[in-house]
Amino acid sequence: MTDITVLGISGSLRAGSFNTALLRAARQLAPAGMTVELYEGLRDIPPYDGDTDTETPPEPVADLRRRISQADGVLFVTPEYNYSVPGVLKNAIDWASRPAGHSSLTHKPVAIMGASPGNFGAVRAQLALRQSFVWINARMVVQPEVMVFKAGERFDEHGTLTDTTTAALVRKLLDALATTIHTPAP
Ligand SMILES: Cc1cc2nc3c(=O)[nH]c(=O)nc-3n(C[C@H](O)[C@H](O)[C@H](O)COP(=O)(O)O)c2cc1C
Repeated sequence: MTDITVLGISGSLRAGSFNTALLRAARQLAPAGMTVELYEGLRDIPPYDGDTDTETPPEPVADLRRRISQADGVLFVTPEYNYSVPGVLKNAIDWASRPAGHSSLTHKPVAIMGASPGNFGAVRAQLALRQSFVWINARMVVQPEVMVFKAGERFDEHGTLTDTTTAALVRKLLDALATTIHTPAP
């Protein structure tokens, strides 16, 4: 099989983020032939503004769209804020979703996972994200669902994933994403 590149986007800006730590773990756990690149431009994406969503959008937006287009798939790692997707991540997805029906995310293979220190592993945020990808018409991996609950118990003080069950689930998700990427779009 040909080598594939996956763009990893964490929805947290926090240096000590569990979700970014989970994304770093995914980079290490990627199957042979898959490279996971970390997107680090989230902080630079301006608030969505239809008036600047023109042929020449703000450069950070153009860069995001370019990087999504160039990647074979996208791995979103979302925290949960107030039972939903953090505004900074939703904002970036809103930009990336335009123009509707022809965006960098349309038909793009995408996978989702999330972490929280609480008992639910960002499940509600992940479901909200799934809804967005239905409208966007991305090629979304449905299973496995990776809900990293009690995240504080699964990483060491350096943000390294130590939990083998979580590592196995992340591997399964990446395998499923690779399968979606390698399956021709209908
Ligand atoms: C504004 C805000 C809202 C939050 N809402 C929720 C929530 O609805 N459910 C939840 O499980 N945790 C919630 N949390 C806690 C986050 O899960 C926790 O801060 C987590 O560590 C954020 O992800 P990160 O570590 O990747 O930054 C919230 C945190 C913030 C700052």
